[in-house]
Amino acid sequence: MTVATRKIFVTTALPYANGAFHIGHIMEYIQADIWVRFQRMRGHSVHFVCADDAHGAPIMIAADKVGKTPQEFVAEIAAGRRPYLDGFAIAFDHWHSTDSPENVELSQGIYLALRAAGLIDVREIEQFYDPVKGMFLPDRYIQGECPVCAAPDQYGDSCESCGAVYGATELRNPRSALSGATPELRRSEHYFFRLSDPRCVAYLQDWTRQSDRRGVPRLQPEVFAKAQEWLGGPEGGKLADWDISRDAPYFGIEIPDAPGKYFYVWLDAPIGYLASLKAYCTGAGLDFDALVADPELEQYHFIGKDIIYFHVLFWPAMLHFAGRKTPERVNVHGFINVSGEKMSKSRGTGISPLRYLELGLDPDWLRYYLAAKLNNKVEDVDFNPDDFVARVNSDVVGKLVNIASRCAGFLTRRFDGVLGNADDDALAAFARSWAGADALADLYERRDSGKVVREVMQYADAVNQYIDASKPWEIAKDAARGDELQTVCTTAMTGFRDLVLLLAPIIPGLAQRALAQIGQTDTRWDAIGLPLPAGHRIMAYQHLSARVDPKQVDALFEAPASAVTATATPAAVKPAAAAALSSVAAPAPPEPGSEAISIDDFATLDLRVARVTGAEAVEGSKKLIRLTLDVGALGARTVFSGIRSAYAPEQLVGRHVVLVANLAPRTMKFGVSEGMVLSAGWDDPAQGSGIHLLEPDDGAAPGMKVR
Ligand code: 2FM
Ligand code: ZN
Repeated sequence: MTVATRKIFVTTALPYANGAFHIGHIMEYIQADIWVRFQRMRGHSVHFVCADDAHGAPIMIAADKVGKTPQEFVAEIAAGRRPYLDGFAIAFDHWHSTDSPENVELSQGIYLALRAAGLIDVREIEQFYDPVKGMFLPDRYIQGECPVCAAPDQYGDSCESCGAVYGATELRNPRSALSGATPELRRSEHYFFRLSDPRCVAYLQDWTRQSDRRGVPRLQPEVFAKAQEWLGGPEGGKLADWDISRDAPYFGIEIPDAPGKYFYVWLDAPIGYLASLKAYCTGAGLDFDALVADPELEQYHFIGKDIIYFHVLFWPAMLHFAGRKTPERVNVHGFINVSGEKMSKSRGTGISPLRYLELGLDPDWLRYYLAAKLNNKVEDVDFNPDDFVARVNSDVVGKLVNIASRCAGFLTRRFDGVLGNADDDALAAFARSWAGADALADLYERRDSGKVVREVMQYADAVNQYIDASKPWEIAKDAARGDELQTVCTTAMTGFRDLVLLLAPIIPGLAQRALAQIGQTDTRWDAIGLPLPAGHRIMAYQHLSARVDPKQVDALFEAPASAVTATATPAAVKPAAAAALSSVAAPAPPEPGSEAISIDDFATLDLRVARVTGAEAVEGSKKLIRLTLDVGALGARTVFSGIRSAYAPEQLVGRHVVLVANLAPRTMKFGVSEGMVLSAGWDDPAQGSGIHLLEPDDGAAPGMKVR
């Protein structure tokens, strides 16, 4: 069915510019990209943009730590984005930065409009200030004892030991995580967006309830329920005003008429969506102002479930009261877990997307697997390695590619690639096996890619059953049955062409190769179901997709070799940072003779005494032992350690080890490794391959710091 052309503006959440993409980013981009590709196949005009979320205190502090300006720091991160986006075929029109002139202009303009609407307040607040660093401290840069359970070294917002949530000023013996100084309470003027204003509340009550112009609710039911909770139900009254300013020094955008004050990063981040679109328009010769004012333009945001508040309360209110278009829909997805283990968004554990590509795993495999698991609910998705191999091999290779590999060769060898007449009865049977192109278009529109995949596979099953029943390999033995052979293969290839078009938004690389071989230049959605005319010529069949080799997937979860074995020489074990790192999560240790580190560098390591309370060999690994560690106030930790060649698990239980407690967890095939234990060993195996765990003297207790 032909549909009127739509104008669509799509974004994914802007990633913080302080680290490489993790698999959670890639999943979101794939989900949005599938939707965008589908809309483009329908003939709609889509502008699809993203950008780095560059501002904020954490980025400023991270840049300072490595001796760079924030601008240099974020530019380096931005320079590394391309291989991921190209690698996973994410068809963004433009990638921008929130640290850009467009964003300054738009953010200041929106703020001034909100101020003119009477929605900005200025109030004094009391906050911790680091007298050494000369800056106000965000909560996560304040540490102290939990006011509830007295656990040491807790952050300013919540306790990792007992789970209590509190204000930073409640911490006992607070200290700055940046300088170690005792912070002072100081007063400062802050700017607030008056979200509690009855106009905002009434507007948001209405907006969150509405359906978009296609009759689809703007918010998924789970998201609407959350919004209602925050709004305080239909009665309202629960929304607090939003502190949108931060004091200098801050990496951000200056607030007009407020010297020394900057917009809090979350104010200018979503405005970055518009800034990216604007930069794209400038490059493409489009009129940005006319585009965003066009009532026909539909604006969609794809985001994760952790940033709903910002997108369904702050963002629409900001836009509306600044006189701008509000989002058509906010599409929220869950998180991605790996083998059932939760991935930490900020710590970026999980499968490394770049390693996936470097190992030669086909991006279409991941796209297909995630599409099969995603739907329009706010549910977490689990990447399970065995399931991944089974699903891709069964569906993409066993069902889809198999059709072409069984039939295309007969056409090229026996008929010079020329198609005959299709079997209309068989095509009618194919059509009965699945819901049809309109129904699938509706599923794509609603982001129910899991159902799309199931429907398409039913169609693929029908085509394979037809081939099984027709047995072209038998027909081919009889020279007199040439027409029949040509018909069977033409019919199967017609089905194959449909299947490829139906899956093109999900597996664009494979689709492009397959359509080129079929000689199909019409890649519109409307081409689904059209006959492949008799006389049309296809190219010689070439292999379209290999089976996934489980060894490749295993390699995805293996630590680099240097991280698994102990490698440092005892002579190098001066600072603890140079001790051998016998866990799976270690970066390569510095070479002997490598540059000296400062005491501040050393202080970044949180080394703790831990007691081994459990140890077991890891099934499926020759190197690893799964250690359960008691780390005192830090609780229990699981660490996979590459020490099996030197220790039997039962030797380890009860002894003390030294743990790097603040190492980012690493998700492995067998589970998550939450740190590493230290050991000593030689670099050069010729000197000996022994691994020797470090152990503190008697009297050391679990949780003690190693300094
Ligand atoms: O949570 C995050 O990763 C934020 N950087 C997302 C920002 S989305 C948008 F508002 F910019
Ligand atoms: Zn506590």
